[in-house]
Amino acid sequence: MASVKYERVTKSFGDLTVIKGVDLDIRDGELVVFVGPSGCGKSTLLRMMAGLEEADGGNLYIGEKRVNDILPKNRNIAMVFQNYALFPHMTLGENIGFGLKIRGVNKKERAKAVAKVAEILGLEKLLDRQPRALSGGQRQRAAMGRAIVRDPAVFLMDEPLSNLDAKLRTQMRIEIKKLQRRLKTTTIFVTHDQVEAMTLADRIAVLHDGRVQQFGTPAELYASPVNKFVAGFLGSPAINFIRADHTGKGELSFPDGQIITLPKDQARAISGQKAVEIGIRPEQIKIVKKDTAPADGIVNWSAKVTLAESLGGEALVYTSHGGHEVTLKVANRFAGYEGADIHLAFDIRCAHLFAVDGGQCLVSASEQ
Ligand SMILES: Nc1ncnc2c1ncn2[C@@H]1O[C@H](COP(=O)(O)OP(=O)(O)OP(=O)(O)O)[C@@H](O)[C@H]1O
Ligand SMILES: [Mg+2]
Repeated sequence: MASVKYERVTKSFGDLTVIKGVDLDIRDGELVVFVGPSGCGKSTLLRMMAGLEEADGGNLYIGEKRVNDILPKNRNIAMVFQNYALFPHMTLGENIGFGLKIRGVNKKERAKAVAKVAEILGLEKLLDRQPRALSGGQRQRAAMGRAIVRDPAVFLMDEPLSNLDAKLRTQMRIEIKKLQRRLKTTTIFVTHDQVEAMTLADRIAVLHDGRVQQFGTPAELYASPVNKFVAGFLGSPAINFIRADHTGKGELSFPDGQIITLPKDQARAISGQKAVEIGIRPEQIKIVKKDTAPADGIVNWSAKVTLAESLGGEALVYTSHGGHEVTLKVANRFAGYEGADIHLAFDIRCAHLFAVDGGQCLVSASEQ
């Protein structure tokens, strides 16, 4: 087991700089998820730690040891890829034990190690089967087995679940989390799926444009995103952004003419800004009666329902108001139909306020 550290790491491919100075301190035993949109550099960052790509600048550490110049096979890591490529002519047991065989571990030791891993993964009865006779989930588990059997200091996983269907993906996600808890092996898991990131991670590193935007627990990132990018990337359905002008006196003015007075801390945080982007999560917006009396710090407006989706226990309601698309998540009592006129309200204290320029968060929601 070991900690993992990226220190001022940079990487370019030709003229294209894809990693622009990354610092990350990953603790021993932690499960860290790298998440971000396609092309943001997640795999490149992982592959540098594995030794499959060379860093142009900065330092990579596994434990206390700087590993930049150490061969991949000597880094004591195991990788699991999206394409888990089991050898088709070998049995599942031979596949799991292959890494040990090429390292010269004898047959008896190998059989013992494979049996132990098979037990952990619930594959005991399948060891004599060939990969083509296994389900997708079983093959995925076999790929995990191949990594576990080596008892590495660090697991590096690059989208290992993306070849599976939705249900199996969720099951395997839970299995990986349980397994990681049991083995306590430091793990970096790459995905572009924010739900996977939120549910799996001890801490998440959100990457964008070759930089770490924020590194923290899922709860921290959700409650206090540092900028619009992080706020917009985490959460499903995505957070709503609504622009409002600042009157200069701690009041926000909306396009429909309503003006609300901000609580002191929010007013202080936006002084000097001419306008702000309000970030309000779909679950923070309520449907209210049209004649609800105005109250301090409550933003409200009429909107038309453009689409309503029932998820069983809750419903997503898509609305439109003066060119703003606003999404709500409500308990499934919503009986409105598409085209219905409804009235919405939210408390400005439940909103994050972002700078229009650059998108950094000026003040996080004080109530959620
Ligand atoms: N060998 C390479 N040569 C040139 N460019 C590369 C190479 N590998 C990656 N890139 C580029 O570097 C950038 C980051 O790629 P990377 O594979 O790290 O992204 P990613 O975040 O893993 O994306 P995805 O979610 O699609 O897997 C991309 O613009 C990609 O085109
Ligand atoms: Mg990738």
